[in-house]
Amino acid sequence: MPDRALYPVPPEWAGRAHVDAAGYERLYRASLEDADAFWLEQAKRLDWVKAPTVAGNWSFDEADFGIKWFEDGVLNVSVNCIDRHLATRGDETAIIWEPDSPDGEGRRFTYRELHGEVCRFANVLKAQGVAKGDRVTIYLPMIPEAAFAVLACARIGAIHSVVFGGFSPEALAGRIEDCDSKIVVTADEGCRGGRRVPLKANVDEAAKRAPSLEKVLVVRATGADVPMTGGRDVWFHDAAAGVDTDCPPEPMNAEDPLFILYTSGSTGKPKGVLHTTGGYLLWASLTHHWCFDYRPGEVWWCAADIGWVTGHSYIVYGPLANGATTLMHEGVPNWPDASRIWQIVDKYEVDTLYTSPTALRSLMKEGEAPVKATSRKSLKLLGSVGEPINPEAWRWYHDVAGDGRCPIVDTWWQTETGGVLIAPLPGATDLKPGSATKPLPGVAPELVDAEGQVLEGAADGNLVLTRSWPGQMRTVWGDHDRFFQTYFSTYKGKYFTGDGCRRDEDGYYWITGRVDDVINVSGHRMGTAEVESALVAHPKVAEAAVVGMPHEVKGQGIYAYVTLNAGVEASDDLRDELCKWVRREIGPIATPDALQFAPGLPKTRSGKIMRRILRKIAEGDVGSLGDTSTLADPAVVDDLVENRVTR
Ligand code: PRX
Repeated sequence: MPDRALYPVPPEWAGRAHVDAAGYERLYRASLEDADAFWLEQAKRLDWVKAPTVAGNWSFDEADFGIKWFEDGVLNVSVNCIDRHLATRGDETAIIWEPDSPDGEGRRFTYRELHGEVCRFANVLKAQGVAKGDRVTIYLPMIPEAAFAVLACARIGAIHSVVFGGFSPEALAGRIEDCDSKIVVTADEGCRGGRRVPLKANVDEAAKRAPSLEKVLVVRATGADVPMTGGRDVWFHDAAAGVDTDCPPEPMNAEDPLFILYTSGSTGKPKGVLHTTGGYLLWASLTHHWCFDYRPGEVWWCAADIGWVTGHSYIVYGPLANGATTLMHEGVPNWPDASRIWQIVDKYEVDTLYTSPTALRSLMKEGEAPVKATSRKSLKLLGSVGEPINPEAWRWYHDVAGDGRCPIVDTWWQTETGGVLIAPLPGATDLKPGSATKPLPGVAPELVDAEGQVLEGAADGNLVLTRSWPGQMRTVWGDHDRFFQTYFSTYKGKYFTGDGCRRDEDGYYWITGRVDDVINVSGHRMGTAEVESALVAHPKVAEAAVVGMPHEVKGQGIYAYVTLNAGVEASDDLRDELCKWVRREIGPIATPDALQFAPGLPKTRSGKIMRRILRKIAEGDVGSLGDTSTLADPAVVDDLVENRVTR
């Protein structure tokens, strides 16, 4: 039953926000009616070396497919995030860093200091042979150097590819090779929730499988003793000793690549999502301004990891482009205990917190006491991202964490979209728990059925977007055809998001989750095909099928069905071994939550696995399996139902 409660815009927000209800309507209309004029006007919030004279130049049709924004504009992203603030707020804090352990010492950088750090980093990269257009793989923990490294790439026009520190050497090697990256920036180790992550050792492992790799630049983070390979590995502090702290910014065309970020799809290997310079930065900056109503002097905290798109857009690029003070936390919200996240809020008097439903659900489990032990009176606004937020978690966030005082901004978007597309504006939009509410200016959502029929009014369907927006991805690295086929071939002339969605009678959007073979585990995307190919790579496995299942904290968990090779005995030990195997092949986030040994998988007579049935069994919804008579061997279903597992 949908939650029908409405939380009206608090009067103080309606009066003081950047955008009120009438303002939103005006912006939205203008963005569609005269898109070129609207976007050229919005583009003025960036500093351009050469201002653009054209806005969008795009087509989603196969014949003239292509996406460009501001294509004659020239700018540098690091100048927009740093240099242009120096005259007005050079001595204000740009980055606050809070370490994993509450006993550790934090660090702070003013915009002026950030300028020095980024220039130094850029000069180190140059000295290692990195030039404009080169790909730099960044495999760092959540330390300030992660922000310096991406901004340094932007300064010299190198393309960064950040790989989340939780990915395995195997996954890292695949990402290094795919974009033919010659250098990896890493650290000795990372710290997360009191544990050490052996990043440098992982890079050493990955290097064996990544022949393109020539250099490894190592930041000293924990001081652990790590072996260095002569001729390949360089300590950052050694390389930085002799370099200048000024580095002239490279003038970049608006359509020059800024970064690649790998993300899972429904088929094959992860795709390198490519974002470019002008449109992406404008979208990150504008959405941070609109959705979170940032004001100078406020402390902004996006509790994501730089390894995900949320960290790119809302720890680094959006906030810094807006001259914000952005907080980076090395660790996790609930370590050493469930008060940690709120203690950090109090310590730095955080104004806005942006986190995931998974984090909220894990905190909810611990009850209200750890929250109520803290003040949180600095909080003005709370944001949510990464997965559908269930109304219960929404209310807890609103009532318990925010003491009923702070609007909740539930933001729907994707790696591909560069920044938020559907979300409330705190001064403009009445809230409904569990709904991402309304599209931002320039965003044109539509609901379609499986045949592509457009659904009007209140409806339930697949979410597509009929217009481009500046922050849209431009291609899949090295495979432009895959870009078109993945997103624009299902519904002709439209971008298919892969999400299901309901629109209610007030025009509010309720994202219901992925309708393709992508699982959203704790707000992180995992392709079922990736987990399956990791499983079948095990010598004892003949076949595997992976589906999502409901999980009370993670939103979705991973349910794997495994058929063993003839003669191999199923056992609990083997189940553990296979789970560990997947963990090693991809990373901890891919570890199956449940693994069932299956004598066979339900297939059609043409050999296609019936995932619909597997999903139902994983969900425990065995009463409504639908028609199984078309299966090659209907008897396998009985066995699957009988031997369903819960772990
Ligand atoms: O299914 C949607 C879900 O996360 C997917 C995108 O994942 P990723 O590219 O990893 O980006 C995550 C951070 C933006 C979407 O296709 N998703 C993201 N935000 C929401 C959401 N589902 C519902 N509500 C949201 N607010």
